[in-house]
Amino acid sequence: MRRVYFDHAATTPVDPEVAELVMKYMTDHFGNPSSVHGFGREVKKPLEQAREQVTKAIGASHVGEIAFCSGGTEAANMALRGAAHINKQKGNHIITTSVEHHAVLSTCQQLAKEGFEVTVLPVDQYGRVSVEDVKNALTEQTILVSIMHANNEVGTIMPIADIGKMLKEQDRKIIFHTDAVQSIGKLPVNVDDLNVDILTLSGHKIYGPKAIGAMYLRRGTWWQPIMYGGGQERRRRPGTENAPGIIGLGKAIEKVTENREQEAERLTKMRKKLVDKILHNIPNTRLNGDPDNCLPGHASFCFDYIEGESMLLSLDMQGIAISSGSACTSGSLEPSHVLLAMGIPKEIAHGSLRITMGKYNTEEDVDYFVDNLIPIIERLRKMSPLASGACTPCGCASCEENH
Ligand SMILES: Cc1ncc(COP(=O)(O)O)c(C=O)c1O
Repeated sequence: MRRVYFDHAATTPVDPEVAELVMKYMTDHFGNPSSVHGFGREVKKPLEQAREQVTKAIGASHVGEIAFCSGGTEAANMALRGAAHINKQKGNHIITTSVEHHAVLSTCQQLAKEGFEVTVLPVDQYGRVSVEDVKNALTEQTILVSIMHANNEVGTIMPIADIGKMLKEQDRKIIFHTDAVQSIGKLPVNVDDLNVDILTLSGHKIYGPKAIGAMYLRRGTWWQPIMYGGGQERRRRPGTENAPGIIGLGKAIEKVTENREQEAERLTKMRKKLVDKILHNIPNTRLNGDPDNCLPGHASFCFDYIEGESMLLSLDMQGIAISSGSACTSGSLEPSHVLLAMGIPKEIAHGSLRITMGKYNTEEDVDYFVDNLIPIIERLRKMSPLASGACTPCGCASCEENH
């Protein structure tokens, strides 16, 4: 059976060249980069080279602006908590959006418990926040704004450069963070063009290892560490560095940035084929997110009358890996907070699927996927009480209970 991996927003396979490098720094060169002897020195050098690779990939001006950590979640915690607490004397107001990843949303919720006032801005039908709304939400107390570059569920791109420009014009040193976990390697990412002070990224979304990430902190940004220990990473993130991971991340970000344009073009074409084929062949289907201003290999749909989980399991049986928008919280399936924030009704949001293609996918994968999806949806809709107009709670054709 053919196997198709269409879940690159969840994680990506490690590029073989990256994996080889990681292995080398786990076995042959295992030293602690802080050690002064040869074993340490032979790791310190490539580790600093990885810092240069990240610096170059995001257009930072100095290697000292990059601190490595354990991934996108930790980087977001470092960004938000580190910027919020030290600036508390200046103000206690933070602005974010309703469609952020939980790495940002939950950190903001925690900051709210610690006395910060958090404004969670709404988005439009495509999942996009407006510059105007951010501007109108600013108060004398605003110290920090955190808005993702591209959304992990629907792929919509946020107007980060314009928001950053507007914030700069306020001339109040409001710190601007963007979560670029999904955009690195897919969109042009340059910290100066985006006008951001802090940017966070993760290795495993760009064909690098898991549990490695980085935070860019613009020189002169008022920030404090959130953990204490040794003096690693210029005291920004203590603890012995994950040298193999860092070196792998450096190589991975270099490779995705080098090939970005041609890969984005290829994926955009494949996405168009996939979207056209689905919308043309499957009635009662909607494309979620911004149809044009979105990540190249990313497509999210809602199929009326059926549950995302049933489609996911049926596709899995055909060797196809995709993701549904629902999250399993305490045993029940909750529809995605992103789709709900975009105004999609709960019952429709339940029928969502996210397809995220990557560098090893081909047009044949798109055909295999859609050709399998069509009969699956037909079958599930036949079984669905919602599609037949039957009583929803009990599924019978005409319920005397009148549910
Ligand atoms: C937009 C976004 N931010 C943050 C994260 C968290 O990154 P990590 O898995 O490296 O902790 C993810 C992962 O799904 C993400 O998609």
